[in-house]
Amino acid sequence: MAKRHVISLFDLTSDEIRQIFSLSAELKSELLRGLRRPSLSGHVLGLLFEKPSLRTRVSFEAAVTHLGGNSMFLGSDVGWGSREPVPDFARVISQYVDVVVCRAKIHQRVEELAANATCSVINGLTDVAHPCQALTDLFTLQEIAGSLDSARLAYVGDANNVACSLAVACAKLGVPFAIAHPNGYGFAKPFLDRVFEAAPGFELLQTGDPMEAVADATAVYTDVWASMGQEDERARRSEAFADYQVNERVMASAQSEARFLHCLPARRGEEVASEVIDGPQSAVIQQAENRMHVQKGLLQWLLG
Ligand code: CP
Ligand code: NVA
Repeated sequence: MAKRHVISLFDLTSDEIRQIFSLSAELKSELLRGLRRPSLSGHVLGLLFEKPSLRTRVSFEAAVTHLGGNSMFLGSDVGWGSREPVPDFARVISQYVDVVVCRAKIHQRVEELAANATCSVINGLTDVAHPCQALTDLFTLQEIAGSLDSARLAYVGDANNVACSLAVACAKLGVPFAIAHPNGYGFAKPFLDRVFEAAPGFELLQTGDPMEAVADATAVYTDVWASMGQEDERARRSEAFADYQVNERVMASAQSEARFLHCLPARRGEEVASEVIDGPQSAVIQQAENRMHVQKGLLQWLLG
C-alpha cells in the first residue's frame, strides 16, 4: 500500500481521524498504567525543522521512543530546499526513515517533499496548517466534553494555521465551530470552499464579536496574534486584535463548565489574560500532554 501523508487534515477521512483517536486513547491509557508497547520497534522518525519547537519536536521524539522506535532531529545542515533539489532530498531521505515530520517556512516545500517521498510525510506546522495540533485539540475536546456529539468549539483571534486546521477537524467530525476575528483576519474564501466541499453540513459562525462566538461554547481557544514569521507585523496586529483577548469576561459568556484551550506558546496579557490561562478553566497542559498521545496514535495508524 502507498505510504500516506498528513500535510493537512483534508488528507484524512472522518473515520480515519476517529481510528487515530481510538488508538491514541488506548495508548494513553496504557502509558498511564506504566505500559509501553514496542509496536514500532526498529522504525525511524526524522524531524526536519526550520522553525523552533518544544511540543511538536519533543512529543514526537518521546512518542516514537515509547513505541520502541528511534528519532533523529534534522536541522538546517541537512540542506532541505537549499543544498540539493527537493525531489532528490525526498527520494534519498525515504531510504533511511519511515516517517518525516516537517516544520517548514514554505508550505509548498512540504508538498513537494511529500510528492517525491516514498516514506510518510507529516506536516509539523507551516503557515497554512498545523494538523497534528488540531488532531490533539479535538481529542482533548472529546475528553473534556465526554463526547464530540454535543461539543462546540469557539476560537477568538487570527484565522491562522491553527485556526484553519481546527476548522477542518471540526468540519470532519461534525463539531460546530465559531470564530471571532477583526476585519481582514478571517479565513480565505478558497479555503472555506474546500472545507464546505469536504463537509457540506459544517456549522460555522464567523463574527467580529468574541462574545457572540463563545456563546454556548464547550471550549474557548485562542492562539498568538502574530505567528512565527510574522514578527515584523506584531505592532499592527496588536492594535487590530486589541479587543480580542480571551479574558474572564469572554469566558463568562461561554458555558459555565467551558474550558480554555491554547496550542502554546502563549503571550499572557495579549491574546489571553493570565487569570484565564493560569485559572481553573484552563486545559492547556492536558492539551500539550495529549500532543504525545495523539501523535503516538497517528504513528501507530500510519505504520502499524
Ligand atoms: N503547539 C506547538 O506546536 O508548539 P511548538 O511550537 O512548541 O511545537
Ligand atoms: N500560529 C502559531 C502556532 C505555534 C504553535 C505559529 O505558527 O507560530
